[in-house]
Amino acid sequence: MNILVTGGAGFIGGHLAESFVTDGHTVTAIDILEPFYDIGLKEHNIEVAQYAAENTDGGYNFVEGSVTDTELVDRLMAETDVVYHQAAQAGVRASVEEPTKVTKYNINGSQTILEAARKHDIDRVVNASSSSVYGKPQYLPYDEDHPNEPVSPYGASKLAVEHYARVYNEVYGLPTVSLRYFTVYGPRMRPNMAISNFVSRCMRGEPPEIYGDGEQTRDFTYIADILDANHRLLTDDSADGEAMNIGSTDNISITALAEAVRDAIDPTLDIKYTDARDGDAEHTHANIEKATRLIGYEPTRDIREGVSEFISWYEQNRDWYEPLVLNS
Ligand SMILES: NC(=O)c1ccc[n+]([C@@H]2O[C@H](COP(=O)([O-])OP(=O)(O)OC[C@H]3O[C@@H](n4cnc5c(N)ncnc54)[C@H](O)[C@@H]3O)[C@@H](O)[C@H]2O)c1
Repeated sequence: MNILVTGGAGFIGGHLAESFVTDGHTVTAIDILEPFYDIGLKEHNIEVAQYAAENTDGGYNFVEGSVTDTELVDRLMAETDVVYHQAAQAGVRASVEEPTKVTKYNINGSQTILEAARKHDIDRVVNASSSSVYGKPQYLPYDEDHPNEPVSPYGASKLAVEHYARVYNEVYGLPTVSLRYFTVYGPRMRPNMAISNFVSRCMRGEPPEIYGDGEQTRDFTYIADILDANHRLLTDDSADGEAMNIGSTDNISITALAEAVRDAIDPTLDIKYTDARDGDAEHTHANIEKATRLIGYEPTRDIREGVSEFISWYEQNRDWYEPLVLNS
């Protein structure tokens, strides 16, 4: 199949591109190479997918450009069967600082993708959404009937795009699915996230640093499980028109996470606490029954297994990954 991965040089898009190429598909990745973190990491993601194409039957083509570029998107869509739409200004804090960019990239860019997909009769658009669409929890774990009251421009943009995706399904019959990812981690993960920060600091003999009191809880989802959910949707139409949670097996407090990382790397280190940051959700926890029912999604890693896999990967890739994390 011909697969278009938007945000294809990013963390999740990079993994999606590599995995589809490895399965023998032809992937076009589009990315604006936004310097939200060190773009060396994005260049590495592109190289990994290129390497996969050289060593499998799959094909890979990288296009530097924006999903807001109507002509470019239209041209790429003419050659596409299925779209995995990951391009976005990610990050809650970045959205608090630059809400206008979030509207442009996340909302306008997504609408450009949906409109071109409709025009070219694309088989499916799988849209990367987020647990941020929920906002303050009225109960946990969140199921998809929970009210949506995002607490950041980022969450508001993700909710808007979900509605567009659903409306394009209902009004135009375009097959769309939104996956509400709950904090994703694993090899090549974005810098400036709790797990990459904690591992990087502990590896350098520094205490992990927590924003706030550490009582916040999060559902951390391993990248392999995110890939599995996305791969199921390549041919499965049972979730068309739907939005669903893609989370892990359980949630964990940030302090417990920091302790787990610290204990795995250097149990003699302290934990450091600093000021909380705007827009961060206090608690997230996914009820994944809908994804299990509709597409058979079952997460495979609990947080301790995933963290231990990530630490092993970090140790093996420290020479190139750590400088990029520190530079971000
Ligand atoms: N990582 C997580 O924990 C997480 C959680 C929930 C949702 N998500 C969503 O998953 C998707 C992928 O996230 P990620 O963690 O891989 O982030 P990322 O920042 O690593 O990847 C996003 C990529 O999109 C690109 N991009 C941004 N604006 C663009 C534009 N206008 N045109 C083309 N490319 C553009 C960026 O350059 C970047 O490479 C995003 O939509 C994000 O909102 C991620």
